[in-house]
Amino acid sequence: MRPQDLFDDLPPPEAAHTPIAPGAVLLRAGGRDGDVALLQAVEAVIAQAPLRHMQTPGGYTMSVATTSCGALGWVSDPQGYRYATHDPLSRQPWPAMPACLLALAQRAAAQAGYAHFQPEACLINQYLPGAKLSLHQDKDEKDLSAPIVSLSLGLPAVFLFGTPRRSDRPQPLRLVHGDVVVWGGPSRLAYHGVQPLADGAHGLLGRRRINLTFRCVGRGVV
Ligand code: SIN
Ligand code: FE2
Repeated sequence: MRPQDLFDDLPPPEAAHTPIAPGAVLLRAGGRDGDVALLQAVEAVIAQAPLRHMQTPGGYTMSVATTSCGALGWVSDPQGYRYATHDPLSRQPWPAMPACLLALAQRAAAQAGYAHFQPEACLINQYLPGAKLSLHQDKDEKDLSAPIVSLSLGLPAVFLFGTPRRSDRPQPLRLVHGDVVVWGGPSRLAYHGVQPLADGAHGLLGRRRINLTFRCVGRGVV
C-alpha cells in the first residue's frame, strides 16, 4: 500500500479547519504528519502500560480499553473517576508523554486558537468493533480554561458532539485517521461520545480505532 492510500478518505484542504461549536474546531488530518512515528510512540506506551477495561463507579465495565501517558493518568474504578500519578496495575508512574504526541497536541491547540497548551495527561482509548463511549462531559480536570485535544487514529468513528446541556441533541461527526477535535472555552464542558465502532480494516491499525485525548488537569488535583 502506498502511504498516500491511507488518507484517501480525506476531504479537500479547504475543509481542513472546521468550527463545530463556539470554541470547538475539527482539524481534518491535524495529526497526519509523522504518522508512523506517532503510532510507534502509542504502541510503546501500550507496551509499558497495557490497555485495560476499567470499571465505572456505577459498576459497569467500559467497552473501550484505556491506558495513559504523561505525569497523570485517568483512572476509573468503583471508588470514582480521578487522575493518578501511578498506573494502578503496575504501581509504576505512567509512561512519559512522547515528545511527538505532545508536539502534535500543542500544534493542534494553537491552530484552534488555544496557545500555551501544556497537558499533563494523555488518555489512550482503544475501540474494537462494537465498542462505544456514552455521552459524558470531561470534568475531572480542575483546569477548565484549557481545551481538550482529541486525536483519532485507525478505523473511522461517529463522534457525537453536543453542548454543555445534556438535553441538546449532539451533532454526529465522522472522524477518520488523523483527524483532531479541539474543544474549549464555551464548549469545554460539551457532552460528547462515540457510537458503536463499525467493523473494518485500517491500513495501519487493522480492526481498531485508537483515540488520544490530551488534558490539562491543573494543580492540586492528586
Ligand atoms: C473521550 O471522550 O475520552 C474519547 C472521545 C473519542 O474517542 O473520540
Ligand atoms: Fe471525553
